[in-house]
Amino acid sequence: MVEVLSGPTGRGSYSGALLEVENLQVEFHTRQGVAKAVNGVTYSVNPGETLAVLGESGSGKSVTAQTIMGILDMPPGRVAGGAIRFRGVDILKLPEEQRRRIRGEGISMVFQDALSALNPVFPVGWQIAEMFRIHRGSSRSDAKKKAVELMDRVRIPGARDRVNDFPHQFSGGMRQRIMIAMAIALDPEILIADEPTTALDVTVQAQIMGLLADLQRDSNMGLILITHDLGVVADVADKIAVMYGGRIVETAPVHDLYRNPAHPYTKGLLESIPRVDLKGQELYAIKGMPPNLLEMPSGCAFHPRCPYRREDCATAVPPLYPISGTRGSACHYWREVVDGSR
Ligand SMILES: Nc1ncnc2c1ncn2[C@@H]1O[C@H](COP(=O)(O)OP(=O)(O)OP(=O)(O)O)[C@@H](O)[C@H]1O
Ligand SMILES: [Mg+2]
Repeated sequence: MVEVLSGPTGRGSYSGALLEVENLQVEFHTRQGVAKAVNGVTYSVNPGETLAVLGESGSGKSVTAQTIMGILDMPPGRVAGGAIRFRGVDILKLPEEQRRRIRGEGISMVFQDALSALNPVFPVGWQIAEMFRIHRGSSRSDAKKKAVELMDRVRIPGARDRVNDFPHQFSGGMRQRIMIAMAIALDPEILIADEPTTALDVTVQAQIMGLLADLQRDSNMGLILITHDLGVVADVADKIAVMYGGRIVETAPVHDLYRNPAHPYTKGLLESIPRVDLKGQELYAIKGMPPNLLEMPSGCAFHPRCPYRREDCATAVPPLYPISGTRGSACHYWREVVDGSR
């Protein structure tokens, strides 16, 4: 607690993992029943490190991120268990006033849909400048100067001339840069980027990923990159957490995971990426549908779709078996997956 109280974020005063999510459980109470959107997620990020969180639609990636940011819709959402430690302090237990101080300066987030996250009736420079006026009490002219600097930093050409332009006057890629500028305005220690490039074409995607990597290197931020796209993460991530049905099913350093996945779901994801070196290959598609959170399959949630399943997969929930100090797989038969026998 002392660390968080000592300054806005207690920067520089903690030696453990910067952010640790431990056994986080989040549920939504709906008329149809209780949906366990996040069901025991554990991951951590250190300064300068990039964690990619991967998994298909509805696997709980964004809900985990919203809970870390403290912007979960409550109700219907509810944190049912677990901890989120920032510099060793469980921020789930902090009063809202202290969490607000961590938001933006300690942990910040880039949202997926840049156009709807920006206010259409205010110039972009004004919206960036607001960050400094509200959080730092900067004067109007100072805040505007800082907004131009930030627009330069995220490489918006002609920033000084464009500071008074409105969101609709920018392309999708440029709007995403503006969102990134707002997210890094207060120099956060952790940046969560939730699908920062899905709406963009491939060239612009690569530019935005390059920009995030540069910003991270300059400021030593920890980066949590949420995506469905395995192709995007290979170059930028240090480690990967793969989510399925609200759980982490595999976690590994990025190169280990690409070289030799240890969960059938990860293996299916990798086999469904087109490769330029295999012309005419047949692309693999994971059969079946993502699980319905209101009626989660018994045992391992992936078993109805799994080519490796045995009888006990339908009854016994697999824990995240440690494979090495840095790897884990929530598959009873991970050895077979690693050996490649099916
Ligand atoms: N406000 C809410 N009320 C009820 N259910 C919700 C709410 N927000 C999210 N959910 C449910 O929680 C589950 C996980 O959602 P989440 O947004 O985390 O998925 P995701 O992994 O980010 O998917 P995507 O890749 O599509 O963004 C989904 O089934 C979703 O329907
Ligand atoms: Mg999402």
